[in-house]
Amino acid sequence: MNKIIIAIDGSSSCGKSTLARTLARKLGYRFIDTGAMYRAVTLYILENNVDIKDAEQIALALSRITISFENINGQNTAFLNGTNVEKKIRTMRISHMVSEIARIPEVRRFLVAQQHVMGKDKGIVMDGRDIGSVVFPSAELKLFISASLESRTERRAAELIERGESITKEAVRENLKKRDLIDSTRADSPLIRAKDAIGLDTTHLTRDQMIEIALQMVKNLID
Ligand code: DC
Repeated sequence: MNKIIIAIDGSSSCGKSTLARTLARKLGYRFIDTGAMYRAVTLYILENNVDIKDAEQIALALSRITISFENINGQNTAFLNGTNVEKKIRTMRISHMVSEIARIPEVRRFLVAQQHVMGKDKGIVMDGRDIGSVVFPSAELKLFISASLESRTERRAAELIERGESITKEAVRENLKKRDLIDSTRADSPLIRAKDAIGLDTTHLTRDQMIEIALQMVKNLID
């Protein structure tokens, strides 16, 4: 069967990772959560006290970072230099810092080069902010996902509480707003809807409805 690249972009907690992960499972494709890659770099920078204003320190840090993904008990799991960091990269500590790291051009070049390699054989669903616009501008299917700030706050707060973090909805809402602003206004590959991306507002869709709509689009392309 004709294998394609599916690029899914959108702001934080709009449902894009759930959609990307499920589509990949149903199609037998590889799923890559590029946000996890930016989060892993952020974790390394924090744990090693890297001065992000010092270009040499950033270059040295990047030369020491290896990111990989493994499927553990059906869960896509991020590894940083061979250590499972899946839990650590999802904390608010990382969320507070990640957009500042993701705006650094050297960091973006470093990760985009790896994303290109991951997609070279197609059969991949990649989610992020710049996948349809910068990483794979010729992806066969590009989706741009959105949802209201309120529904994104609910979704993210529920996820964090389930993981045992004690946070308030207000703190989650403010973090989402701040990241939206930095992610969509940065100079290097900002969050932007590619001209040929299909918009999908998930605010009033159930998870299953969202998946069904996207799956139908894929089927129309590959059948
Ligand atoms: O999807 P997420 O919330 O886990 O992403 C974390 C941060 O990484 C997000 O605030 C912006 C950045 N990011 C990016 O700049 N480009 C991507 N392709 C993916 C994520």
